[in-house]
Amino acid sequence: MAAINDVADLSNEGDIAVLTLNSPPVNALSAGVREGIHTGIEKAIADDSVKAIVLICDGRTFIAGADITEFGKAPKGPSLFDAQKMIEDAPKPVVAAIHGTALGGGLEVALTCHYRVAVPSARCGLPEVNLGLLPGAGGTQRLPRIVGPEKAVQMVTSGVPMPAKQCAEVGLVDELAGEDSLRADAIAFASKIVAEGRPLKKVRDSNEKVEAARGKPEIFDNIRKAIARKTRGFLAPEYNIQCIEAAVNLPFDEGIKVEQKLFMELMTGPQSAAQRHVFFAERQVWKIPGIAKDIEQIPVKKVGIIGAGTMGGGISMNFVNAGIPVVIVERDQAPLDKGLGVIRKNYERTASKGRITAADVETRMGLLSGDTDMKALADCDLIIEAVFENMDVKQDIFKQLDEICKPGAILATNTSALNIDEIASVTKRPEAVIGLHFFSPANVMRLLEVVRADKTSDAVIATSMAIAKKIGKIAALVGVCPGFVGNRILAQRQREANKLIMEGAMPWDVDRVLFDFGLPMGPFAMSDLAGLDLGWRKETSNPDGVLRDRLVELERRGQKTGKGFYDYDENRTATPSKEVEDIIIEFSEKTQHTRRDVSDDEILERCVYPMINEGFKILEEGKAIRASDIDIVWINGYGWPVYRGGPMFYGQQIGLDKVLAKMQEFEKAHGPEFKPSALLERMVAEGKSYAEMGF
Ligand code: CAA
Repeated sequence: MAAINDVADLSNEGDIAVLTLNSPPVNALSAGVREGIHTGIEKAIADDSVKAIVLICDGRTFIAGADITEFGKAPKGPSLFDAQKMIEDAPKPVVAAIHGTALGGGLEVALTCHYRVAVPSARCGLPEVNLGLLPGAGGTQRLPRIVGPEKAVQMVTSGVPMPAKQCAEVGLVDELAGEDSLRADAIAFASKIVAEGRPLKKVRDSNEKVEAARGKPEIFDNIRKAIARKTRGFLAPEYNIQCIEAAVNLPFDEGIKVEQKLFMELMTGPQSAAQRHVFFAERQVWKIPGIAKDIEQIPVKKVGIIGAGTMGGGISMNFVNAGIPVVIVERDQAPLDKGLGVIRKNYERTASKGRITAADVETRMGLLSGDTDMKALADCDLIIEAVFENMDVKQDIFKQLDEICKPGAILATNTSALNIDEIASVTKRPEAVIGLHFFSPANVMRLLEVVRADKTSDAVIATSMAIAKKIGKIAALVGVCPGFVGNRILAQRQREANKLIMEGAMPWDVDRVLFDFGLPMGPFAMSDLAGLDLGWRKETSNPDGVLRDRLVELERRGQKTGKGFYDYDENRTATPSKEVEDIIIEFSEKTQHTRRDVSDDEILERCVYPMINEGFKILEEGKAIRASDIDIVWINGYGWPVYRGGPMFYGQQIGLDKVLAKMQEFEKAHGPEFKPSALLERMVAEGKSYAEMGF
């Protein structure tokens, strides 16, 4: 075997040259890999004894795409286009041998090969849209020439890779190899091509499928309509569609020019920068400094949940879905039966939509049991308490758990508001106590805040993170403080939203600005959805002094009563309420506010900048490990738009100096709640980034 460079080797098997790439972890198209392909293919072409070339990868996968870490840096070595040209113009057949995933630039390389073989477990796709990009190495022009524009547009807008067997059906893969014999089978395939004298198939020259789609704009209109809601605010899906349209309507080289232009626009724009940030943030968030990767974890074979309410039920479903048996404990039989009944109904609804089978429903319910005796938790490895938020009740439960649970079990609380150190303090094993803050609906929302208390052990933290991954969550490790990370930041926005409507804005103004910013809904629409009477009590209600209390007393409890901040029709479509408007004006007067015009910019800055500032305070106090973890919390728990990268990334993108200046201005005008964080001030003074500050 002859080394081409650090990451590429060339060897001859008879008259077949095998070019092997080995650049862990995912054989991304770094400068070295591009050079390896370029030079390796060039050498194999020059070698007269070689009749065909196999391009294969070592390690876990075929090329998984461009090297995202190189984006934005000065290009080095041969470009991807140079490497592709070397392959496509080779005078001998080049066969891509695919295992793992051929993604993005990886599939684009395979598409310049004359043939493709793959193991059945492989997947091929163009996921660039997830990075706010489009396939910029000919993918949008070549893919539709094989799979047809309709399938191609669906692939590039969803980013979902296609399993190899399906690839073989649509011609993206020419032959399936044995799962464990890819190299040998690819070599045999290449020999067959040579023996049969098959032509050098260049995808770029195959025009039938794109020509057949000319004059059929409905292909593109349909997909635009189908994805409109899901892709609101994102640029990349539309740009991807335009590229496939170009493939249909223009000659190949012209189509490539469109692809290049739109690719560069996305690549240099703010959305892709944000989405690339999120890609890495999602991977960073699992890494816990100071805890060894190989620390011994606590095997979690059975989970106990205390409380069969909405949270307890939702949390249980996560574990059952992952095949882990759960026992739910409730004080009385009736609420227990009710809770179990709700879970069954949820599963049956999912089955009726065809997402799981009827047998799955029974399997999952079979993993679930209920009990009214806490002793049923004795053999559980992880117990999660999900009862209502009351310190005395929770402390009482944890005292009992301390007595009942086996040594080594993890004792978790799902509190969103209480101090976990105080809960842990009543046990003789505070090292076993941790917060697992699920978001509602707990079986749907991806975020889990794993809350480390003062004495929580490393093994308990590591196990909690691992179990979160197992049940399909994205977990961020945070510290104990009021609201932890997510709700603590939310409180800032809520406070300002409430103040803004007293100063002159209306709830629908605030909601519109935040919706247009990209959030799924504004704070007032959110209150209506959740119910204004959440936590409201008649005994303490103050309808003359508290707006919310007045609305509840007027039966404006939110969507469920057909009116809240908004009026709702039978389809739950919201319209601004004149009644609410009048009450707000009355409250403004009562609180001595002279109502004024509040601009959309002010609404956005007043709501969002204090959130960013609070993020800095959280970092300063060590309650989050890194700025990007805060972004993960807000994207996955509160619907912060991915294309804005999370509040901390957004702050840096618009300029921390600008955020600081506004906070100072607001502090003067509106008071101390806008006091800038010391960390923010320091970073601006020193001109440093999060990474430079170790966050
Ligand atoms: N560039 C650089 N690093 C990458 C990478 C890429 N394209 N893809 C993955 N990595 C890194 C990850 O950051 C991670 O690094 P750490 O271990 O340091 O955290 C490591 O590789 C392993 O990745 P995962 O943890 O994600 O491993 P996995 O086995 O769960 O998944 C994968 C593997 C399916 C390939 C997944 O990593 C993935 O989806 N990667 C991105 C694929 C992609 O989007 N490709 C398109 C790139 S853009 C492009 O190609 C533009 C173009 O048209 C030229």
